[in-house]
Amino acid sequence: MAGLGARAVLVTGANRGIGLELVRQLAGGPDAPRWIFACCREPDGVHGQKLRKLVSSHPNLVIVKLDVTNHATIKAAATYVEDHLEDTGLNLLINNAGVLAEVALETVAPQDMLNGYNSNVVGPLLVSQAFLPLLRRAAQGSIQKGLSCSRAAIINISTVLGSIGLAPHTFVKHVISYRCSKAALNMLTKCQSLDYKEDGILCAAVHPGWVKTDMGTQQADLTVDESVRGILSVLSRFGDEHNGAFVNWKGETIPW
Ligand SMILES: NC(=O)c1ccc[n+]([C@@H]2O[C@H](COP(=O)([O-])OP(=O)(O)OC[C@H]3O[C@@H](n4cnc5c(N)ncnc54)[C@H](OP(=O)(O)O)[C@@H]3O)[C@@H](O)[C@H]2O)c1
Repeated sequence: MAGLGARAVLVTGANRGIGLELVRQLAGGPDAPRWIFACCREPDGVHGQKLRKLVSSHPNLVIVKLDVTNHATIKAAATYVEDHLEDTGLNLLINNAGVLAEVALETVAPQDMLNGYNSNVVGPLLVSQAFLPLLRRAAQGSIQKGLSCSRAAIINISTVLGSIGLAPHTFVKHVISYRCSKAALNMLTKCQSLDYKEDGILCAAVHPGWVKTDMGTQQADLTVDESVRGILSVLSRFGDEHNGAFVNWKGETIPW
């Protein structure tokens, strides 16, 4: 697999599941980024253990405290990363952190809907806002002309369950807040792609497949290794025509 060619990458929710595998493969892959900022909400707690172990053998990995539902930690993380990068920018932001609650249409409570929306939509929105100056700096400092993940990009990890077009084919009960929030994340992605194109920042949504993680369960089709290999390969091929796209881990277009 060709490397991404990005100098600095940031991943949210990097302490387990798809996020942890993203930083693991990025750190150990060919053409590894100079800096990988692995964000998690409790770096010192038990949930940060695997990430701390990984960092001990990869000097290009930096753990950053960031809770996507806590604006103060997002702003502090952006300041920390800016200090670390000195005068250079952030090439790639992967909004991976997300939550899924099992709640049914008939009984879902307002707070369940708001929790999903806060983590899966407001979080990626605020994180993107906070890192926008660093993404712009990377785009401006690049000698590349077109859009790419090696120049500057925001990738929102979405899901096929957020596709309105495919809803009749992917109908599963009990995840209503997740589906609605990821459909909203898709709209956020499209708006970001239209707005940030002028800044030289590519924005796209990626469905990782049904993956064996705490969220995906062990019944899922794909291992995290397979899913993340696919995602990184797809990202390395992204160009102008992928701005505003919604694709899966194989690069196939998904209807909005
Ligand atoms: N697995 C699948 O089959 C599948 C399918 C489609 C889409 N996705 C998407 O892929 C992404 C990763 O999913 P996954 O399967 O790896 O899930 P996971 O194993 O449940 O991991 C979720 C990650 O998000 C983090 N997170 C949750 N809320 C957060 C917050 N407020 N601030 C910071 N981090 C937070 C978790 O951190 P903590 O350890 O602190 O909770 C954890 O690192 C999600 O966006 C998910 O919707 C997954």
